Amino acid sequence: MEAQGEGPIYMCVYVHPCGDYNRKGCTFFLKSLLGSAMAVFMAILGVVVVLCFCSALLRWNEVRYRKKGLPPGTMGWPVFGETTEFLKQGPNFMKNQRARYGSFFKSHILGCPTIVSMDPELNRYILMNEAKGLVPGYPQSMLDILGKCNIAAVHGSTHKYMRGALLSIISPTSIRDQLLPKIDEFIRAHLSNWDNKVINIQEKTKEMAFLSSLKQIAGRESVSLSDSFMTEFFKLVLGTISLPINLPGTNYHRGFQARKTMVNVLSKLLEERRASNETYHDMLGCLMAREENRYKLSDEEIIDLVITVIYSGYETVSTTSMMAVKYLHDHPKALEELRKEHLAIRERKKHDEPIDWNDLKSMSFTRAVIFETSRLATIVNGVLRKTTQDMELNGYLIPKGWRIYVYTREINYDPFLYPDPLTFNPWRWLDKSLESKNYFLIFGGGTRLCPGKELGITEISTFLHYFVTRYRWEEVGGDKLMKFPRVQAPNGLHIRVTSY
Ligand code: HEM
Repeated sequence: MEAQGEGPIYMCVYVHPCGDYNRKGCTFFLKSLLGSAMAVFMAILGVVVVLCFCSALLRWNEVRYRKKGLPPGTMGWPVFGETTEFLKQGPNFMKNQRARYGSFFKSHILGCPTIVSMDPELNRYILMNEAKGLVPGYPQSMLDILGKCNIAAVHGSTHKYMRGALLSIISPTSIRDQLLPKIDEFIRAHLSNWDNKVINIQEKTKEMAFLSSLKQIAGRESVSLSDSFMTEFFKLVLGTISLPINLPGTNYHRGFQARKTMVNVLSKLLEERRASNETYHDMLGCLMAREENRYKLSDEEIIDLVITVIYSGYETVSTTSMMAVKYLHDHPKALEELRKEHLAIRERKKHDEPIDWNDLKSMSFTRAVIFETSRLATIVNGVLRKTTQDMELNGYLIPKGWRIYVYTREINYDPFLYPDPLTFNPWRWLDKSLESKNYFLIFGGGTRLCPGKELGITEISTFLHYFVTRYRWEEVGGDKLMKFPRVQAPNGLHIRVTSY
């Protein structure tokens, strides 16, 4: 090898990959080696620059929010905040942040600077003090699509008035005399012909929650409304949980269009009813009877209230019903006890006789199953508020317009409040005092306490009554259940049903 004075080329002998030892080849190889080294260097430099930039961005975002008096916590990335971590890690994100910063910390999730409150006492205080400037803080897309008169969008005396109007149509007397007979008739029909079939119970309970509300609202016209209304309603629901980008093709745009269609259909229905001069014994009938009803609502208010009723009871009632089916399937003892309660009711009745108010009141184990299902599945993780002015809370200064996430999920799994909290144990709720404890926030609390609580329980109880007295079921198996951010079965929950 002639390589005197050519030290570096000599080196090539050992490393040249193609075995071409001549000078030209080695020069080429050296160049490509240098080229590769340069590329690696540039790549590393690029990564370092990106890392430095990201870390500077994170730091800048933290400093931006390091105002005096704010609670501890991290704010993540500009604009996106910690939304990805929150959605990916779910409840663990909250638990980790609580371990680092305590039960009252700041974050930036779902597009807003947010204070997360996991402290039961404080949560109660926030829910009780709307008048001090702690109003509902639901996303703009939801408020836009549900209408400007919907309950979550109004405060103060307007809220009081709209809530009063709602309570007047879902009072215990209305449930007893008008709503329960409609719910019974609907659910009885909805659950017919399930024998020997594989049913997607998620789909069926969703349809049930929607159609049952529609029947309570529009009585006999509900049948002709249901098909077109249901497709529009599902689009509306999707729109309320999407980004508020009003461009053709977006879910928000479709939701908005669906709202317009629903408003048109309902306006037409109001006109037709006025023209007919008939008396209607349903929710619309009560809201339209201006002489008898002390709450005199405009058509716009009636329509927004009707949409609120369907919307608020839809996911809560359907998901609780589906999860009750799931837990009862997995806990035969609880199912046996529940069935005993419902068979005893059927024994007192003629075949096909509807259930009445007294039957409903006697369903104490059913009520316990519903509470235990809501607790264990955590159908509602928490509620949102926002500040209407700068305010002091828990010794910190919370700026105007910040969202407060009253996160109630962890209460449901507190072993001191609910011993053996991960076990499905409906019997714990037979101690009636549990329902009135101040940490019981499954239906919210304070001025916004769910007005549909008893109506929702009536619907789920009626569903369970007919379901367990008519059928047995087993899961087909393999269906995935997601618990966060919403409880749902992404591909449905399929059960094989046979007559009992
Ligand atoms: C198992 C069933 C249900 C659960 C778990 C549930 C849960 C809740 C919760 C946690 C809140 C408080 C929201 C907040 O503070 O921001 C609430 C409010 C509300 N719920 Fe329900 N709900 C159920 C059924 C229903 C039904 C059937 C209706 C139908 C009328 C309904 C109508 C409402 C309305 C209108 C509000 C807002 C009240 C206000 O802002 O004054 N809910 N619900």
